[in-house]
Amino acid sequence: MLRSSPVLAATVLTASLLTGGASAQNTAGHDADPGAIVDALFAAGGNQPKVRGSGAKGVCLKGSFTPSAEAPGLSKAPHFAKTVPVTARFSMGGSNPKISDKAKPVTRGFAMRMTDPSGDMVFVVISAPVFSTRTPQQLLDFATVRAPGPDGKPDADKIKAFAAANPETTRQAAWLNARPVPASFAGVDYWGVHAYTLTNAKGAATVAKLKWVASAGQLGLTDDELKAKPDSFYADELKERLSKGPASFALVAVLAETGDPVNDPTVAWPEERKSVTLGTVAITAIEPDATCDAATFDPVVSLPDGVAGPATDPMFAARSPAYAVSLSRRAN
Ligand code: HEM
Repeated sequence: MLRSSPVLAATVLTASLLTGGASAQNTAGHDADPGAIVDALFAAGGNQPKVRGSGAKGVCLKGSFTPSAEAPGLSKAPHFAKTVPVTARFSMGGSNPKISDKAKPVTRGFAMRMTDPSGDMVFVVISAPVFSTRTPQQLLDFATVRAPGPDGKPDADKIKAFAAANPETTRQAAWLNARPVPASFAGVDYWGVHAYTLTNAKGAATVAKLKWVASAGQLGLTDDELKAKPDSFYADELKERLSKGPASFALVAVLAETGDPVNDPTVAWPEERKSVTLGTVAITAIEPDATCDAATFDPVVSLPDGVAGPATDPMFAARSPAYAVSLSRRAN
């Protein structure tokens, strides 16, 4: 386990807030404008009006989070001390609201806001242990080459050339392609691909990646089952599942060991890391879309004392301004 001093944890938090400004620096030192990234995300999904720049197709939900007895030992966040209400949303990656639920190399998303009078704790996570890009500039380029041309399709040669020049951007799709399409939003695990620093009441800090482990297990569809499904089945499946009881996930902190990268969400840590269960998210019911659409799930600014994002991961800070741009476009 990698433990850092309270001083280091404070530095991590301050730095992450400082880098959450209007533009984000990539590792090559160039700024990638959040507005340009959001434009490229919209273009890649066919420029649909009034939708999210990513996670455009989704289902709004409510539930609760109940922390484990071990959670306060790792984080002093009040959300880890008692059961709190949750507003959540499952989604399909990308800005196309008509994307098929059958799409394979596309992440399923899980956004959640755990509420407490002291403030929110928000995580926005995906069904893969890695993100597709290492820097905001790389995300801009990744999305730009996927924009449909005049024939309505992206240029396959451009995508191939980009992948060859940026091999780390192929890991996420390779991971998803190696697994079956999930039969349910509640039948797949989700990862917060960033390294978080959890700090307890004594000031002890622990670096960890967070994982949401589906209580239902990994419910994959066979090729024949997939063929028989319509393009939209997740919302109905969830309604049916929730009519029988909550859909739950264990929130697990996967503990870093010396040398595990904390600044690169395209790299997964080795499987055999120690972990601590922080609690259970129970999704109980579907909520009207308006409940989730009124604001954005901002995973950068909506973190309590006791949970900090990584200061040195350029993808983390870049999320906040990009989500704000997307919200302003879909709300107007
Ligand atoms: C530079 C990095 C990133 C950018 C620019 C970006 C961009 C966006 C944008 C513009 C939205 C729509 C927000 C809204 O309208 O409310 C969004 C939503 C989302 N993003 Fe990201 N993203 C980034 C990184 C990530 C990462 C690392 C993950 C996964 C760990 C992720 C997962 C999601 C999910 C699941 C949603 C849907 C949220 C919802 O249901 O409201 N994004 N992203």
